[in-house]
Amino acid sequence: MAAGVVAALAAACAGPQSAIDPAGPVAESVATLWWVLFWGGAAILALVMGLVFYAMFRPPERRMRLPQVPFLIGAGLVFPTVVLTALLVYGTGVGRAIIAEAEAPLRVQVTGHQWWWEVHYPAQDGLPAFTTANELRLPVGRQVVFEIRSADVVHSFWIPNLGGKVDMIPGRTNVIRLEASRPGRFRAQCSEFCGAQHARMGFIAIAEEDADFTAWWRGRAVDSAGVDAPGRAAFEREGCAGCHAVGVTDRPLDGGPAARAPTLSHLADRPTIGAGAAPLFSASLRAWLMDHGATMKPGSLGPEDRVIDDEATLDALVAYLEGLR
Ligand code: CUA
Repeated sequence: MAAGVVAALAAACAGPQSAIDPAGPVAESVATLWWVLFWGGAAILALVMGLVFYAMFRPPERRMRLPQVPFLIGAGLVFPTVVLTALLVYGTGVGRAIIAEAEAPLRVQVTGHQWWWEVHYPAQDGLPAFTTANELRLPVGRQVVFEIRSADVVHSFWIPNLGGKVDMIPGRTNVIRLEASRPGRFRAQCSEFCGAQHARMGFIAIAEEDADFTAWWRGRAVDSAGVDAPGRAAFEREGCAGCHAVGVTDRPLDGGPAARAPTLSHLADRPTIGAGAAPLFSASLRAWLMDHGATMKPGSLGPEDRVIDDEATLDALVAYLEGLR
């Protein structure tokens, strides 16, 4: 019965943002460790509570008489020492296994900003470098070495279905190695409180077959279609272009002017806007543009005067952004 309840609850834990719905070898080991701890802890809790109820409700004259000293040594010293030592050895082994670097990993740099993600793919495998924002793709079956940084405060990089998390610390580069073993869309979430919009600091990581991934990369390394579309004039007139790059950026932003805001190159291909704040639809783009996210993502940094209330301008901007493929 208890196992049935737990199975039902665990089924509810499957999905695109779940550490116990693993989609890669690292996540697999972490999830197995989690289940071992869970069932081990549950069994010990049941044992201890059984003894507590036995002591409380069994009439004294009918209780077992256990020899006190051996019981204390056995249950109070030997048992926890054996259990904790076994867990230490197992847990340390898992920890060591998941930090090992594979032979020819892919390298990706991710930098946290309040409240969005800069993602830089350095030149490798004959493919050119490029920088994007709030989107991440990785090839199935190949380890990715993420170099993790922050441009402002402490954030934390976490794609629960792929593995553990790592803090993004200003002035420091941390490394985490993850791999996806099946194609899919997995939601990532900043998991260190980093200010007003910490909760809306996410993105969708897309794992895909190598050929699709390479094609995506090649596409990202050339300008979006529609960069010079008619809406470009509105984009410049409203000042959007002052912070948001739209052409290909091939270097990490490194705190330069472009680092103020996410690049919008190929925006129309991203599943969400505002770093996971809303799905990308005409309506959500429009709602964002009306006050530069002041309603959808209050506190997000942006221009002083956020309001665009001219319908023609909004139409032009939405059409322009939706054309950036
Ligand atoms: Cu970034 Cu929380």
